[in-house]
Amino acid sequence: MAASSSVSTAVAYQQCIMPGCRATYDVGEVRTSCATCGSLLDICYDWDALPVPNRLKDFEAKWARRNEPLCKSGVWRFKELLSFAPDEKIVTIGEGQTPLHPSPGVSDYIGMKPGRLLLQYEGMNPSGSFKDNGMCAAFTHAHVIGAKRAACASTGNTSASLALYCCMSRLMQGVIFIGSGKISYGKLSQALDYGALTVQIAGDFDDAMQRVQQISQKLGIYLVNSVNPFRLEGQKTIMLRVLESMNWEIPDWIVVPGGNLGNSSSFGKAFHELKSLGLIDRVPRLAVINAAGADTLYELYEKRGVRWNHGEPDQTKIDGYYAELDAGAKKADTIASAIEINRPVNLHKCLRALECMHGVVREVTDQEILDAKSQVGASGLGCEPASAASVAGAKMLREEGIIDPDERVVCILTGHQLKDPTATVAYHTHDQNEFNKVLGSRGVSRAAFANRAVQVENDLDAIVRVIQLNS
Ligand code: F0G
Repeated sequence: MAASSSVSTAVAYQQCIMPGCRATYDVGEVRTSCATCGSLLDICYDWDALPVPNRLKDFEAKWARRNEPLCKSGVWRFKELLSFAPDEKIVTIGEGQTPLHPSPGVSDYIGMKPGRLLLQYEGMNPSGSFKDNGMCAAFTHAHVIGAKRAACASTGNTSASLALYCCMSRLMQGVIFIGSGKISYGKLSQALDYGALTVQIAGDFDDAMQRVQQISQKLGIYLVNSVNPFRLEGQKTIMLRVLESMNWEIPDWIVVPGGNLGNSSSFGKAFHELKSLGLIDRVPRLAVINAAGADTLYELYEKRGVRWNHGEPDQTKIDGYYAELDAGAKKADTIASAIEINRPVNLHKCLRALECMHGVVREVTDQEILDAKSQVGASGLGCEPASAASVAGAKMLREEGIIDPDERVVCILTGHQLKDPTATVAYHTHDQNEFNKVLGSRGVSRAAFANRAVQVENDLDAIVRVIQLNS
């Protein structure tokens, strides 16, 4: 946890994302929205005052200094691009050591030419999901302003990450809000084990999100959900590591699952900044993939034509859609519990990212998610259901002819396989009752790629026969 030289914080400020407002705030202020118009905030920089390298390749030199924590971190290695805190306040637990893997199996499954499909494996982060990229940044800001408690609502990964940063840094207490019955045991076990105060409310994630915003304001607890603009600064670095692994070449597509839409928003910001700084000459296309049971972005963007529209999105259409959800008491429902979200807090920022990256949005069924997940597993990486939405979405876009088999596609695997073993075991089981109990109610009718355990009596000859038969 720590560092050497100091960076002035005066080079960074918070700014309302709406071009018609653009109110600014000091980075020392704790805000999740604009005081003037209520919109989301960005962290902006006076780039001329920052020592940003002339070439992205120059960041590689830091790897040679990996005995220094800020050079080893896959987030803070790029700190000139997220310079909002003095070095001595920066918190790192070694996040962002995440590889970009070619995957011949998944590539075939999607229908790409060999070598064109790459998986960015964010499950390798210390808490097992991409959240650590953003958490170290929000946590650093919380430390800068002297917070003693930090809170989040979570479908499980944000809470696991917050709980980990709290117990490793010993800087503050974590308070997490989860919906009842809406969190996988893998994730819940992390929050409990790491010692966070865990509040399970009767409701779903959207309810928990609303409550945590009220509570953190009422009790002055620092909020680390992705409405916190500092979170997204850390998540920008996922794209930097993708480019670094590609020897600073630009892929054609970034495909990412969409839940609260923090990742997609941060990717758009990363590429916008890199292009404005002249560090890249083109921007990849973005595909955000919703689960069909939690498809607000798909509905608004693809079906109702809502666009960022240079900062003037059609709010009437957005409000109208939410009113319909309320009227029908419609709740998000998908096996991909991490993205079981109907009211994504970063909607506007994501619309902006989609404009900047000439994006598309798709929705995929739970069946498509689980089939894709099994292919990721069979290729040796393994991910949780939400992450596989990216692979299922890439397959859909390939079949539609929107992604060309020759293009270079990066799917983001947002969380580790061990986060949610229930869905995986149910998919591979031969117990029809277990299958129906976990998956049947969600419209999953078959497990085309199941690898079933072979049942055999405890007898040497029988076991030998089974192995010979199956190998
Ligand atoms: N994948 C995983 C594994 C996640 O945990 C999440 C979000 C997402 C994708 C969606 O990312 O919100 O940036 O669009 N999980 C949050 C949580 C909501 O509470 O852990 P997003």
